[in-house]
Amino acid sequence: MHHVFKRISCLAAMVGVIFLVGWRVDAEPNRTTLPDIATLVHYSTVTRGEVTEHIMTTPQAIEAVKNGQPVPAGSHFVLVDYRDNKVFRYFVMEKGQGWGADYDENRRTGDWQFQWFKPDGTINLAENTARCQACHSSRADREFLYTFNELRRFEVD
Ligand code: HEC
Repeated sequence: MHHVFKRISCLAAMVGVIFLVGWRVDAEPNRTTLPDIATLVHYSTVTRGEVTEHIMTTPQAIEAVKNGQPVPAGSHFVLVDYRDNKVFRYFVMEKGQGWGADYDENRRTGDWQFQWFKPDGTINLAENTARCQACHSSRADREFLYTFNELRRFEVD
């Protein structure tokens, strides 16, 4: 009897450790970087109440989508969230060769990774980027992008 209890408490401790490690992994930095915003093309604006979002990406990603090609590895998409005319946060998606292998199949969003950057360029460790992936996974057939069609229609001048 004594041994059984010992095993159960040991198991409970192990589950606790696994849970903690799992949570930490979600909140840890991943491979996504904050790019130089000035090099990107602003192709869509979304306004919702006090929030203004400028959505931007690289000229290469725009060309690929317009030509029906996959977005090349190394591409960034940035959603700059402005409130009171100041940057409130940057939501970033970045694609990298083989980056999908960092996640198990349930969570994977192709080779895209997601991150929330504060205005000072540091990441928001309170965010679990699995949430970003869960929502964007409904766009798996459109490069995990919500603004895929805007991008296709966007005229580069
Ligand atoms: C509940 C759903 C949902 C969640 C969660 C979510 N997004 Fe999005 N995301 C959207 C929608 C919808 C848009 C289109 C713009 C809009 O309507 O605001 C978008 C747009 C974007 C874009 C611009 C490219 C595109 O897909 O059109 C980026 C970059 C982005 N999100 C990153 C993130 C990051 C990073 C996170 C997590 C920190 C995140 N998103 C969480 C729904 C979501």
